[in-house]
Amino acid sequence: MDDDTPPFFYVMNYASEAEGDVIDMVSGNPDWEPPEALREGLHEYADADTDAFQYPPSVGLRELREEIATRRGVDISQVVITNGAGEANHLAMAEGLDAMDGNEIILADPVYPYYDGRTNLLDAEKTLVPVDDDGHLDPAAVREHASAETAVIVVNSPNNPTGVTYGGDTVEELVDVAEEYDALLVSDEVYDHFDYSGRFTSALSIDSPNRVVTNSFSKSMAITGWRVGYAIFPREDRPDPYGGLVDSARTRHMLTNVAISRPAQTAVLQALRETGPEYYEQVRERMVERIDRFTAALEAAGADYTEPEGSFYVMARFPGTPGTMENIEMLIDEAGVAGMPGEAFGESRSDWMRFALVSPRVEEAAERLDEFF
Ligand SMILES: Cc1ncc(COP(=O)(O)O)c(C=O)c1O
Repeated sequence: MDDDTPPFFYVMNYASEAEGDVIDMVSGNPDWEPPEALREGLHEYADADTDAFQYPPSVGLRELREEIATRRGVDISQVVITNGAGEANHLAMAEGLDAMDGNEIILADPVYPYYDGRTNLLDAEKTLVPVDDDGHLDPAAVREHASAETAVIVVNSPNNPTGVTYGGDTVEELVDVAEEYDALLVSDEVYDHFDYSGRFTSALSIDSPNRVVTNSFSKSMAITGWRVGYAIFPREDRPDPYGGLVDSARTRHMLTNVAISRPAQTAVLQALRETGPEYYEQVRERMVERIDRFTAALEAAGADYTEPEGSFYVMARFPGTPGTMENIEMLIDEAGVAGMPGEAFGESRSDWMRFALVSPRVEEAAERLDEFF
């Protein structure tokens, strides 16, 4: 693997070229149905007038922004529709870096690799704060690492890859650290519908100009390929630099994307309006079942493993087999199970491997691992 190949692509490629049958637990691509209204919305769109096939507003369809603003209790002017949570994170990190003093971005370790790569892309100084043994990020540790150089702090709850969900106290303290150091807290909440602990607290619940919340429909509606997400920036009437962030983000977004796919936004809007809580509840139930079955088999295999409070990843540590790329390749070839190496997520979980529970074959995968170890 050369240094520039993202590890996700490398592993997916390696698994697809392997000789035997491989169960894919590499990336977070849902294997379940989207809400019914989403498919209906897209079908209807195909028959719309040609007018409806032209540029939408760059910042996003007004009705979609309105729907999101109402649900999230913010002003519509704060919402920018983005190319998934990925672009939302990019906008927030880039804007924070430009607008705040300092050139440092603080990330938790283990880290979602795109935050890490993006920090390099933006030429920022990176500081990784290791999480506790139980996977939780201690805001006191973040505070210890923060300084006048800190421009942005990126957090993610429910978390990929650790599966922890931060409670209200943690989120409040993280916002507090951002306020103390005049930094921007970027709270990536893309797994908010996948909280099994009942503890999830959005950073939006804390009134502060120092936080941007990012999210998308990629996971909640099982449409990672549709690319509809959003960022919620501080209100424009906040003092600068906070009040100016959203306008600057709109420009950055427009000059990079022009706009986000109109059919995708239209169908997402329809699905948002017409999908009841039972859809999300069912998906959560299925995931909890998978987690139980997978972790029971890991237990039988003598592995250490995480018990996710949220998201859809389990980390496992097998005795004598650290989470290196070589060992991931070995498991693909010899056990027929593809996961991600812990070393792809920073240093603190490099002994571990990450498995995404987005396959109906999780039990079979766990049995294969049990047999192998
Ligand atoms: C923590 C986290 N943030 C963002 C994303 C990307 O989301 P999107 O597909 O909406 O860009 C992912 C995808 O796996 C993720 O795990």
